Amino acid sequence: MSKITVVGSLSTDFVVSADKRPEIGETITGKDFKTTFGGKGANQAVAAARLGSRVSMIGTVGTDLFGQEIIANLKNNQINTDNVESVTGLPSGSAHITVVDGDNSIVYIPGANDAITHEQVISASRTIEESDVVILQNETPLEIIESLIDICFQKGIQTIYNPAPAKQIKQETIEKVTFLTPNESEYNVLFPQLSISEGLKKHPNKLIVTMGSKGVYFNDGSKEVQIPSYLVQPVDTTGAGDTFNGAFGVALTSGLDMESSIRFGNLAAALSIQTFGAQGGMPTLEEMKGSAFYEKEWNLK
Ligand code: RIB
Ligand code: NA
Repeated sequence: MSKITVVGSLSTDFVVSADKRPEIGETITGKDFKTTFGGKGANQAVAAARLGSRVSMIGTVGTDLFGQEIIANLKNNQINTDNVESVTGLPSGSAHITVVDGDNSIVYIPGANDAITHEQVISASRTIEESDVVILQNETPLEIIESLIDICFQKGIQTIYNPAPAKQIKQETIEKVTFLTPNESEYNVLFPQLSISEGLKKHPNKLIVTMGSKGVYFNDGSKEVQIPSYLVQPVDTTGAGDTFNGAFGVALTSGLDMESSIRFGNLAAALSIQTFGAQGGMPTLEEMKGSAFYEKEWNLK
């Protein structure tokens, strides 16, 4: 069983669905409202834990009820929460999501997610050192991400950095990270002067660009490789990228090569978007094995 540490955001998602997005100054009547568990960090942790890895989460919540429920949800998903701290004076993280025709737009309020400190990371160094991979995203302050990637690089621990939502990052960080997994629009913020093919060529076996239904692209050192997506009718694409990253991490640390790990991630994401909510529909390994697309050679236990 591989060990994965996720450092990142923990949020409550407030999700409304409607037939359209309101114009400025307009009020429309929507169809539905639900609160679900979210936050890119927590989502990636849950994706990995459902697939059988031993997952530890490092992050921060507020002392409000939302924070307590967020921690309980991690525990329900068998995730170690020893390094999740509750801080006073800030609300737990939240995301305000509008879903129209299966596609989402999100306002993210970091709240307590911004209160993570270097001390907290240092006190979790044992957990970090024992990890087969550390997974990070961009809903956590950049200086924490940068120092973590540096620590992992010094200690030879693999990292998966999902730069979502888009932010510019230092060249030095790009060099030190093992895998960088932007989607198309995040790619354009990171590498505004390079076409996707040029960027992939410059960062072979590291840069993985996820393009939704168009599939996932990387360069294997000699050529560009496209891994197609499994085409399904989406109910809610929220968290698709998170499911991909968590599942990719599980496959990789279970011994699969990069290409098979991407396929595995793609299948997990395809299954997850057929159920409402970021974490709703994230498959267990048994559910993956039950899919007609599961490949026996993956041989995950
Ligand atoms: O990637 C999806 C997640 O990002 C949602 O769960 C929400 O919390 C947002 O910030
Ligand atoms: Na889902």
